[in-house]
Order: sequence, then C-alpha cells, then structure tokens
Amino acid sequence: MADRILIIDFGSQVTQLIARRVRESGVYSEIHPFNSITEESIRAFDPKAIILSGGPSSATEEDAPMAPMAVYEMGLPVLGICYGQQIIVEQLGGKVHPSDHKEFGRAMVDVTEDCALFHGCWDVGDREQVWMSHGDRAESLPDGFRVVGVSENAPFAAIANDDKKFYGVQFHPEVVHTPHGAKLLENFTHGVAGCSGDWTMAAFKDQEIAKIRAQVGDGKVICGLSGGVDSSVVAVLLHEAIGDQLLCVFVDTGMMRKDEPEEVVGLFRDHYNIPLIHRDAADLFIDKLEDVSDPEQKRKIIGATFIDVFEEEASKAGGADFLAQGTLYPDVIESVSFLGGPSVTIKSHHNVGGLPERMNMDLIEPLRELFKDEVRDLGRELGLPNRFVGRQPFPGPGLAIRLPGGITREKIDILQKADAIYLEEIRTAGHYDAIWQAFALLLPVQTVGVMGDARTYDFVCALRAVTSTDGMTADFFHFDMEFLGRVTNRIINEVRGINRVVYDTTSKPPGTIEWE
Ligand code: XMP
Repeated sequence: MADRILIIDFGSQVTQLIARRVRESGVYSEIHPFNSITEESIRAFDPKAIILSGGPSSATEEDAPMAPMAVYEMGLPVLGICYGQQIIVEQLGGKVHPSDHKEFGRAMVDVTEDCALFHGCWDVGDREQVWMSHGDRAESLPDGFRVVGVSENAPFAAIANDDKKFYGVQFHPEVVHTPHGAKLLENFTHGVAGCSGDWTMAAFKDQEIAKIRAQVGDGKVICGLSGGVDSSVVAVLLHEAIGDQLLCVFVDTGMMRKDEPEEVVGLFRDHYNIPLIHRDAADLFIDKLEDVSDPEQKRKIIGATFIDVFEEEASKAGGADFLAQGTLYPDVIESVSFLGGPSVTIKSHHNVGGLPERMNMDLIEPLRELFKDEVRDLGRELGLPNRFVGRQPFPGPGLAIRLPGGITREKIDILQKADAIYLEEIRTAGHYDAIWQAFALLLPVQTVGVMGDARTYDFVCALRAVTSTDGMTADFFHFDMEFLGRVTNRIINEVRGINRVVYDTTSKPPGTIEWE
C-alpha cells in the first residue's frame, strides 16, 4: 500500500487544502474528524505521519477539542498547524494564551534556527511571508521543543522537537498565500516522515480497478451517465474493470445543451463500445414542467421523474446488483461542524439518491476519495478526450433552471442556440478554462426593439460567467466590453426570439451561480 498521511480535522475552513497539498506531493492523505480518532483507528489507517489541522476553538478553554494522547505516543511524526500547534503545546505541557494582538492575513516570519521543515526553501536569517489567522498563541513550550521561527505577534511561529519529530506552525502552510507552504509540507511528509511520494493517478487507477473487480465479482453494475466529468470517468473506469458487466443508462431530459446528447452517445456507445441505453424522455419531462414556474417544484419534479425513468430502464434491462455513482471526496468528508443544527436548504440538488434502496442495489463510488481536479487527472489517465475531461459543471436539472418560468420546447430551442453561440465565443477567445461555469438564460420577459425597420417584441437573454474554486463562492467573470458586445450582436442576429442581451454581474453570495 502507498504511504499515507492522516489529517485530523479540528474544523478549519482550509483543512481540505492540507489534503490537496499533501496529495499534490505524491502522498495519499485522508481527513478524519478529531472526534472519530482512536488508537485503533490510527492503527487501522496505518499512516506514516499525522497532521493536526487548524480550527475555530480556543485551546485555552476547558472543553476544547484535543487529539487523543495516542497521537503523541505511537512514535509517529506529528505536524500541528495553527490550532493544531496550540494543542500540541497544551497537551504536552506548555501553555497557550489568548493574545491581545490577533494576526489575520499576511504576516512575516523570521527564521531563527535551522529546522527539517525549512530545508531547501527557508534559511536562518530569512524573513518569509506566511498567512496567519489566529487569536491565541503559544507562550511557553513543552520540554524538548525549540523555537525555529518568530513573527511579530507569534513568538513561537514555528516550533520543533527533533527527537520526537513533532513540529508546529502558527501559520497556514496549506494556503497559497504562504508562498513556500507546499515545500514546507513536503519537507514534513517526505523529509521527516519518509514518504516516497509515489502515489500517482496510474497507481490509483490500477488499485481501483482491482477493488471494483473484487467487489463486483460476476455481478451486474448500472451507471447513470449524464455527460458530465464525474459520471463519464466512473463509466470508463468501470468499463475497464468489468467490461460488459456494466450497463450505462443515459436519461435524456431534453434539457441539455445543444448537441450534447449526440456527443454523449457518440463517445460512449460508438467510441468506447460501452453498453448504453439512451432513453429520450424529453416529452415526458417537458410536459410535466410546462406550467411549473416555482424553482423548487421544478427541481423536485425533475428529480422524481429522473428516478422513475432510470428505474424503468434498469428494470427493463433485467436489473443490476450495483449502482455506480460519481460521488466526490468533498461530498463525503465528514467535516467538523461547530455551527450545529441543520443548515437551510437553498436548493434541493437532483441526483439518483433513493434509487439504491428502491431497487435493492449496493453502491459503487470509485471517486469518493478524489477531488475534482484529481478526477480530471484520472479521466486523462483513462484516455478520455480533453473536451470531456475539461468540461465545466452542468447541473442535473439542466436548462430547466436556466429558463425562469414555464418551459416549452420553443424556449429550450431558443436558449440552446444562444448558449451555443456564447460558449463558442468563449472558447474562441480562450476564456473557457479560466471560467468555472458560463451559460445563457432565457428570461420570461419580453421587451421592445427595432430590427430593420420593424418593431420587435422578443425575449431577453441573460449571460452568466463566474470564477470559483469549488462552486461554494463565486465572482462574476470580467469580460471586456468588446467581447460582450460581439456575443450580444451574434445572439440577436442569429437567434430568432431574442432581441436584448444582459450580463449578470452578481457574485455568490449574495447570488447563487444558477438563477433557480
Ligand atoms: P448554485 O446555483 O447553488 O450552484 O450556486 C452551485 C453549483 O451546483 C450546480 N448545481 C447543481 N448540480 N444538480 C447538480 O448536479 C443540481 O440540482 C444543481 N443545482 C446547482 C451549479 O451548476 C453550480 O455548479
């Protein structure tokens, strides 16, 4: 088994970034919440080292979350980051105090002594930029520790116990605002912990294929294909593992982008030879949505209809023992929530949840350990064409949530044409990869215009493009006006039914990416 790093989560906003940085250096890592960790769970995971994340708590409080003492007693190297450093100090006999001077954002660290974490990037006497976010700070160190870096408001910005291989940093090496942060982490995982850094996507692929074969045996697997990156990668991976024991079902809701159904069927059925049922259910979906304008209603109808159609096709094909899904790591990380209570439903996302129980199938989720960009790497490893692997996300309910108000075939057709022109221009201008998502909407608003010498009274098309790293927050994309003018002209000239185009400059929050 490849070397592994265990990351214990104390609820920092950026814990996921630790896992990403570690994986980027070729070492497999997983995040586990602090309250799930026991000596047995550590042994079972068998890590080469442990990283303690930051978190919102104060190590000075009575019932502050701590690491089980086993973390320090198993002979494993330990790196504490921010709150993680403070609990190392508290648990091993030092003292942490609330500080009058909080440090948030960019700060400078003076490197005072040589340390294994700094090799190849920080030298004694250097002043290095880091990113801080802390109120408390360590004030006295446990036995065996020395200070190796200081900042204006953190006299123990970096500490080390070389014998035990325990290290602590008050700053966050996992964020890009700590320019040498990735190297500092690599010095810990490779230099201190001795990881070989040989975790590659090719190795992961082989390991997953073996796992799938063992799990499936001679059973049958069914996979819902949407044309998006995740389900495409799952389908190709499964096909490589179990060949014709896999059946893909592509439910065409009639609300995909222009020409997308043909592309999906062409790639999977014709190019890969993957057994594929293509069910054209456009009429069914559009009929059900014709008079529905409430966004939540739309989502619920689409979700339920999708499951009905999928189940019908799966049963017709003789059923299956397993359902394969493209669940990703960010969806399964059981992160520590200090907010408590259920969060508000902003939008009910549509997926095939509910199906496995209804059809008595087990789940296969080969991507549950991967981040989105790792899924793309795996897709490339499997030979998927770049235009599939690099695709922007597309929501399950499709164009239905980009057509505020009731839905008709005519409106879908108008929207598909406008959207295709917009995306074509984005690709031509070289913006596609810099944008998280770009799409057109057709508003249920008609305005007066003049074309030739005639009056027009047509629909308004809105354009949206955002940058984002995870879809949780987003900023609108800053096109130049000339670009927007060109797209506007093309849409109005080439798409009958639209006589006005507007650009959405709302970020998320307060807006969401989709309009519904
Ligand atoms: P919002 O609109 O909530 O979207 O800012 C965040 C991301 O989620 C996508 N999205 C969906 N994806 N099923 C999906 O598979 C859905 O029901 C759904 N609704 C929104 C959206 O496109 C964006 O990437």
